[in-house]
Amino acid sequence: MHRKRWNASPLRLCVKAFKVIGMKILVIGSGGREHAISWALARSARPDLKLFCAPGNAGIAQLAEPVAISATDIEALADYASERAIDLTVVGGEAPLALGIVDLFESRGLRITGARREAARLESSKSFAKDFMARHKIPTARYRVAVSADEAHDILRSGEFGAEDSSVVVKADGLAGGKGVVVARTRREAEEAIDDLMLSGALGVDAASRVVIEEALEGREASLLLFADGRDYALMPPARDHKRVGENDTGPNTGGMGVVTDADVLDEETLRRAVREVVEPTLEGARADGFEFRGILFVGLMLTEDGPRVLEYNVRFGDPETQAILVRLQSDLVDIFSATTRGTLSQTPVRWSEEASACVVLAARGYPARAETGARIEGLERAALREGVQVFHAGTARGSNGEWLTAGGRVLGVTATGQNLDRALARCYDAVGEIKWDGMHYRRDIGKVRGQGPVVSGQ
Ligand code: AMP
Ligand code: GLY
Repeated sequence: MHRKRWNASPLRLCVKAFKVIGMKILVIGSGGREHAISWALARSARPDLKLFCAPGNAGIAQLAEPVAISATDIEALADYASERAIDLTVVGGEAPLALGIVDLFESRGLRITGARREAARLESSKSFAKDFMARHKIPTARYRVAVSADEAHDILRSGEFGAEDSSVVVKADGLAGGKGVVVARTRREAEEAIDDLMLSGALGVDAASRVVIEEALEGREASLLLFADGRDYALMPPARDHKRVGENDTGPNTGGMGVVTDADVLDEETLRRAVREVVEPTLEGARADGFEFRGILFVGLMLTEDGPRVLEYNVRFGDPETQAILVRLQSDLVDIFSATTRGTLSQTPVRWSEEASACVVLAARGYPARAETGARIEGLERAALREGVQVFHAGTARGSNGEWLTAGGRVLGVTATGQNLDRALARCYDAVGEIKWDGMHYRRDIGKVRGQGPVVSGQ
């Protein structure tokens, strides 16, 4: 039969037009967080969405075209985004933000979501963040900043953070990959921490040329994340991380061994208080200081007897918080990220399921010190088929026969939703039971303990 080229119905024309438009999104990073972000973006209702991930990992490569550029090579990333006409870039980790990737992309007319360099200082400099909080009366631990080890020792000796047997917290000023905070149980331990951080050179000059000394707070911790567009914000479900490698919160600190989200993480009243006393003053304070906050803000809170106190700001999604949070997202993440760049968040739905969720991290032997890689992972496909379960890849590679191999310290984040936390955890651990490799370890008590995270000295 003879066909006329333009004999298409209006509807088909419309679909065609969309297809021509399409949309290309570049995700920057290579961990479980970026896998979860890519997965949530891929569920978008937008037709013809094409995802890219720089540099990505083997799990992410199932959803997004890998781009062999490091997350910190921001010039090369900007060149790539221009050449490939990327419509939107999403930044996973703090390092590119602190380097000014958002400022660079914007200066080249490229759309990107994330904090600009100045706003990223809320994470990249603890003294900047503390001074910001003091200026804007945001509740946080009492603190002093020292620019030399001698000055830090003098502050401790002055007794303003308690007697010799009091706990006190020492924090390197700069980005230290989770290794820059020591909760010392005595002044002696704090002195050792100061010398380790400031004199050993272990963290590099930039990270530890100044330290923050602060009062040790007590309570449960909670992570409150939100999307922001410079004017409005949308909260995510509060999450609780488990940072120590061992059960009952023992052993060294890690990037995070598991996360839960459910109503118990932050009760309604405390959440309202955290919004009123922390979230809104933070966004207003940023505006008052001349740097509108856009992208994702992550507030680490200690829920003390006197109310919520800020432990830290991050200017990005958490890992593995993201995995447990995004499985509850019911709205379109592409629309949300676009809205953060356009200032249209108030007109964009950001809805979450009423369920609970959990993520259990499976790590390789040796993590968090030096992790073994190259072990063959069994049972991944079976685990991923379980109802309500998503397995996000943090550090995997493909072998020559297509088999899955470990390629990092944190290897997988087994994530599930459920009507309540017990159900979500049961689904996670059932799926974990399908997976094994030589040297795999994980915590069996995610969601059962407080989930505290400091490196306590002397352990
Ligand atoms: P930060 O990177 O500042 O969040 O610190 C990492 C971890 O150290 C937090 O998750 C807390 O468990 C702990 N921490 C930080 N500051 C304090 C504090 N002032 N009091 C007690 N624990 C703290
Ligand atoms: N899981 C803690 C963080 O991403 O900072």
